[in-house]
Amino acid sequence: MKPAVVVAGTRPEIIKMAPIIRALNQAKLPSVFIHCGQHYDYNMSQQFIENLELPMPDFYLKIEASSPGAQTAEMMARIDQLLGKIEPSIVLVEGDTNSVLSAALAANKRALPVGHVEAGLRSFDLRMPEEHNRRLTDHISEYLFAPTQRSRENLLKENVWGKIFLTGNTAIDAVNQHLPLAEKKSCILEKIPFEEFALATAHRAENVDDTAVLEAFFDVFKKSPIPIVYPMHPRTRKRLQENNMLAQMEKLKGVFILPPLGYLDFLVLMKRCRLIITDSGGIQEEATAPSIRKRVLVIRLSTERQEAMEAGFAKVVGTDKNQILSAIEEAVSKEEELPCVSPFGDGTAAEKTVEIIKGSFA
Ligand code: UD1
Ligand code: UDP
Repeated sequence: MKPAVVVAGTRPEIIKMAPIIRALNQAKLPSVFIHCGQHYDYNMSQQFIENLELPMPDFYLKIEASSPGAQTAEMMARIDQLLGKIEPSIVLVEGDTNSVLSAALAANKRALPVGHVEAGLRSFDLRMPEEHNRRLTDHISEYLFAPTQRSRENLLKENVWGKIFLTGNTAIDAVNQHLPLAEKKSCILEKIPFEEFALATAHRAENVDDTAVLEAFFDVFKKSPIPIVYPMHPRTRKRLQENNMLAQMEKLKGVFILPPLGYLDFLVLMKRCRLIITDSGGIQEEATAPSIRKRVLVIRLSTERQEAMEAGFAKVVGTDKNQILSAIEEAVSKEEELPCVSPFGDGTAAEKTVEIIKGSFA
């Protein structure tokens, strides 16, 4: 078999591709790992390769462009060159970032089959660059690995031409594979100055690039009825700095700001926290893993992970500060029993995906 190319460019792609890379190795299928450099800081990139005990990428691209369009174009051109040399059987991409779209387009222009891991998610919120990236990628993919029945139906409704396979989401595989190690190795809890806390993250462009929303989040953190542990994404750090809000946020007594954390530390915080407040996609999935089982307040206007809502884990609370604060108050005032099964599968998504690749190309 010609090698399968696995492309990852950002933190969540490295995490969710890790089980696929491992399963390809276990099945003894040849693969080439391209890190296409959208995330480049050690703590947004290399630390995940180390935490997840992945092989070093065969190619690690350094991208100079900064605007989203130039970034996508530069990644596409660089990946195109590599695909010309590698001549892979399939190009695997995961999720909805600019990296994903650029790799899918590069493969498509070389008439190579694209396999889209986590296909078929839809937020129906066209303000989000991710919604465009995932729709475009789904429509040029020959293999669509849908994590849930709902995502499969989204793809069927849009008449995609590729073959659809129901696999589950590799986010659950990754939690299952790494939480035991995280609990042994991570010392993060020693640093946390609170007994009980909510774990918060925020980085969505439509949130933190909007000063009014950024200010609302600041007020929520200031007035939260429960202390907040907040590993801060570099995009958000930059926006807080530009708006002269970072120093004020650092002074808030009930908020403990951390740099972007490694996966093992983050897993331990998810397991230990009382509640998660986030605009992340992947975290909405991880919170449903049977070993985590946490309520998530989604600080957005929509979600493409409706399954997490239907199962009772997640609630979309919008970006209005009063609404978010009432949701936090409600969540901390009552304990709610959560399901023991994740709507995103049983942790065998990577195995299923690789079985399909093996059946088609080996
Ligand atoms: C990207 C994805 C988003 C995903 C997120 C995961 C797109 C459109 N967005 O958003 O879907 O949820 O990654 O975290 O692809 N920066 C650094 N160091 C880094 C990376 C980024 O400082 O290692 C800063 C830079 O100022 C950069 C900004 O963050 O301009 C935004 O980075 P970018 O990769 O464009 O988007 P994210 O917000 O990270
Ligand atoms: N994560 C992490 N450290 C952090 C914040 C998040 O390891 O400080 C992990 C988290 O467990 C999840 C992924 O990063 O697997 C989510 O990434 P992000 O929220 O940046 O992107 P999204 O999922 O929204 O695309």
